[in-house]
Amino acid sequence: SPTPTPTSYEVTFEAVAANQEDDVTVPAEYTAETIFKAGDPVIAGAPGYSGNFQSSDKTELQAGGNHDGMHYYEIEGVDPNTGGLLAINHELPDFNILFEGGRPDPQTATDEQKKIALSAVGVSVIEVAKADDGSWSVKTDSTYNKRYTGNTVYRVGGPAGGLVGSTVKGTLNNCSSGPTPWGTYLTCEETMDNYLDPTQPEEGYGWVVEIDPYGELAEPTKRTAMGRFNHENVAYMTDADNRVAFYMGDDTTPGCIYKFIPGRAFESDNRSANIDLLDYGTLYVARFNGDGSGDWLELSRGKNGLVMGATDPGNTSQGDTQPTTVDFPNQAAVLINAQSAARVAGGTVMDRPEWISVAPDKTVFVTLTNNSGREITDAANPRVENRHGHIIRWKEEGDSPLATGFTWDILLLAGDPSLDTPEDNLEGNIEGDTFSSPDGIRVDPQGRLWVETDHSIPGNSGVEGETIEDVFGHNAMFHIDRDTGESRRFLVGPEGCEITGIAYTPDLMNFFINIQHPTGNWPVDGQEPRSSTVVVRRTDEKPVGA
Ligand code: FEO
Ligand code: CA
Ligand code: CA
Ligand code: CA
Repeated sequence: SPTPTPTSYEVTFEAVAANQEDDVTVPAEYTAETIFKAGDPVIAGAPGYSGNFQSSDKTELQAGGNHDGMHYYEIEGVDPNTGGLLAINHELPDFNILFEGGRPDPQTATDEQKKIALSAVGVSVIEVAKADDGSWSVKTDSTYNKRYTGNTVYRVGGPAGGLVGSTVKGTLNNCSSGPTPWGTYLTCEETMDNYLDPTQPEEGYGWVVEIDPYGELAEPTKRTAMGRFNHENVAYMTDADNRVAFYMGDDTTPGCIYKFIPGRAFESDNRSANIDLLDYGTLYVARFNGDGSGDWLELSRGKNGLVMGATDPGNTSQGDTQPTTVDFPNQAAVLINAQSAARVAGGTVMDRPEWISVAPDKTVFVTLTNNSGREITDAANPRVENRHGHIIRWKEEGDSPLATGFTWDILLLAGDPSLDTPEDNLEGNIEGDTFSSPDGIRVDPQGRLWVETDHSIPGNSGVEGETIEDVFGHNAMFHIDRDTGESRRFLVGPEGCEITGIAYTPDLMNFFINIQHPTGNWPVDGQEPRSSTVVVRRTDEKPVGA
């Protein structure tokens, strides 16, 4: 059951200054150590990348690239504050350590090159342990260690299985993720791009994939009942009866916000009873009304206009959009074409929803990262050419995951309010340390709200003569005080990276953070840059941020 609502929490760290150093910078009393780099061994006996390009039978056994969403799992019989499992998404290959000259041309890529690329994505499960001196490392001989790659075969569950097929080769573009209440891992496919093989059929991708990090339950399964779109992450809310809702953002323009409610309660003391829970349930899309209310609109065949000859209004955030006619003959069609179904049903087209997080007090937060193409505003997306993004929060009616209505407001508009520009849409209203393009968001179990940024590089700040990094520094991680709204910069990443992934031990003394696609000399001076997992901790007995 969820952690009780805190009445207050301590935040005492001294903010890190915006900077463009080629390193991970954290407050003075903290350390940041790299524990898991792209190409590091996962399966016992794997050689791992050591500077030379390798064949697919080797790369299949080691860390993929572009580390993104992750979650920390406890192991029975192990003190969870000193050891556990990390399930980590690999959104894309780190091509620079796979091929001379980087990404091969897809037109001329060999079968072996395609296989290597697919071996470097998916999910890593690794056992990690804390030594007496406080440092963390990967247990390279653990039998829990496992890779799920773009070459692995996945089951297909749920109503679209008949159309997609009973299995699909590969999970791709695993962006962010989330846990279930029964201890499995939901890895989210953000796009359908097959890296080096554009001929691959696409309906097998764009799903949420359930993986059991302990390897006890069903094989990894694509859960089609949760809909097919540009999945970012999954966050859940439970009630006292073990009913649960899963919240999901569609990171595209136009993209909506969804929730999936399984048709029955989960069993908290019998994991295997939940093995098909995500195959049966109801998918909804959010409509954000101008008066601060909101509705969950059901995406079921025959309801909310989801019939043959339906009218999809298209990207209504732009002025020249033409409606199209779409057929929904059955629920499989609704799920495979969920983006269109959401617009038909009246879902609000948002400014690229990235992560969603459910706080201990059941407030739900979502980052809208940016949408420079927006021409038509609405209450929930109030800025044209929204270059810096915003954060929305909502409360379900009765704090129930089963609610069909909610209330919402905007937590903040990103940007720099001290900028004096003629364009109000660039300035934002952040109090304290400023940022652009919020992406990762997580309220930790003690109630601290963390935000990770992904402004594009090189990026347009909108200010004459200044790049986005001149204004905001490298991508970074911030704490937002939920009482005062004050933003405080906690961690700044190295050159070229975005900050992704956040996981922690139960005592919150050890945070695992991912550094995705660095481009400089990090993490090992003089070697190719590599996406990596970093452990951030302080040396005294206090939670991170306290
Ligand atoms: Fe892979 Fe929307 O970030
Ligand atoms: Ca993201
Ligand atoms: Ca992003
Ligand atoms: Ca990314």
